[in-house]
Amino acid sequence: MRKQIAAANWKMNLDLQQAEQLMTQLLATDHSLGKDQLALFAVPFPYLLTVQQKLAGKTNAKVAAQNCASTNNGAYTGEVSAEMLKGMNVEYVIIGHSERREYFQETPAILAAKVNKALEAGIKPVFCCGEPLTVREADTQNSYVAAQLKESLFHLDKSQLTDFIIAYEPIWAIGTGRTASSDQAQEMHQHIRKVLADQYGQEMADSVSILYGGSVKAANASDIFGKPDVDGGLVGGASLDAKEFAAIINSLK
Ligand code: 13P
Repeated sequence: MRKQIAAANWKMNLDLQQAEQLMTQLLATDHSLGKDQLALFAVPFPYLLTVQQKLAGKTNAKVAAQNCASTNNGAYTGEVSAEMLKGMNVEYVIIGHSERREYFQETPAILAAKVNKALEAGIKPVFCCGEPLTVREADTQNSYVAAQLKESLFHLDKSQLTDFIIAYEPIWAIGTGRTASSDQAQEMHQHIRKVLADQYGQEMADSVSILYGGSVKAANASDIFGKPDVDGGLVGGASLDAKEFAAIINSLK
């Protein structure tokens, strides 16, 4: 059965002390995770070890990186490779967030290379896709998102994409307070699963966890996660509040 996942994306927020405090508060807040459920904490690189230590011994709560380099180790000042993350026992990495596509000019080819590096290192990508408002208004979001998947993932073989994690994050819903309705989320997630099934078969498509991201909060998580093709969420702002994120974890199916 595919995993149901509540993933926190802290983005570039919090100082070290605040990060520690947030984890301490969260661990003290009532939440529970079942066998097929997972909580991920995508934290800034400098906090990976600290947060990992806070989660020590937990089998279904793990840290994730927010990015990795598209190359192996070498003369790339400021970059962090998938090999380095692997050496720190980091098991997950976000790749292709719309903020990185937009502000750091990450192209589909760069993202494909990053996915390759992560997989070579044995790290699981959380691959992000999602359309801007203009595309949604033109009602061409289905072909837009299908192209994002094809361009950066479809060079992989079926075994590499089995149990994969994809996050659908419509850009118009990120940090805007404007959430996609649960029906809009379901419609796109179903479409993504069909695109995967057409290429790789239904069994592989059914193994992929598809998370929704964009203004997820405690108040709307149950409604969104309750849809059959929504397997949890990738959460920005609300993941910086221990009570909110604990409630979001508790909203997993
Ligand atoms: P918000 O939850 O703040 O809208 O951010 C979503 C997001 O970008 C998670 O990766």
